[in-house]
Amino acid sequence: MGSDAEMFPLVQTLIESRETVLPRCLVEPGPSPDQIESLLALAAAAPDHGKLTPWRFILVPTAQRHRLAEAFARALTDRDPQATPAQISQAGEKAYRAPLLMVAVACLGPRKPDTPPLERMVSMGAAIQNILLGAHAMGFAAGLTGGRAMNSPRMQRLLGLAEGEVPVCCINIGTATARRPRSAPRPLPSALLSELPDEASARAGA
Ligand SMILES: Cc1cc2nc3c(=O)[nH]c(=O)nc-3n(C[C@H](O)[C@H](O)[C@H](O)COP(=O)(O)O)c2cc1C
Repeated sequence: MGSDAEMFPLVQTLIESRETVLPRCLVEPGPSPDQIESLLALAAAAPDHGKLTPWRFILVPTAQRHRLAEAFARALTDRDPQATPAQISQAGEKAYRAPLLMVAVACLGPRKPDTPPLERMVSMGAAIQNILLGAHAMGFAAGLTGGRAMNSPRMQRLLGLAEGEVPVCCINIGTATARRPRSAPRPLPSALLSELPDEASARAGA
């Protein structure tokens, strides 16, 4: 492995060039089984306070996508009985788009040690980002999709989740046919950091 100084420009280029590609713009090929295993190994390198691995991924193979489509469609009609046939079919179609679709599940139930749920979610976000970056480095494109269907009991049932397990988003990976223009620049580093004021300034501001 090169020195940190050699590695930084590569990592910077990789991270800064990653972008969301919507599932409707993802086609075959997607990652092979070996590549999926490599991506999961990257997820396993995420920081994880308490070593709980408080997240897991459920692959939805092509042959099972119709079941996910049904859950998406029914989740919509459960919350909006007035949904039009076009809206219902659009909800279901989301299940069929990307060559690889995995549902990211957070494990927030009682565990020992009882790492707080927010910390577990941070670990999950890091694991997902490792997967996105790994897929990008392999030449694939990817996008996350969430939405209210994730909170539907139908999704819980479809995925066979245990108590305390929560579906968070779908990870969609494939080959990009198109990329959307970036709608907004990324935040400036200066907007991301503030400094704790000294006590006198804090008292004056209070
Ligand atoms: C948990 C999660 C769920 C997301 N769900 C959606 C979604 O349903 N639809 C969508 O267009 N983008 C979704 N995104 C992607 C963001 O819109 C995207 O990351 C953001 O616009 C920044 O763009 P970039 O990833 O290209 O930098 C999701 C992102 C996260 C972290």
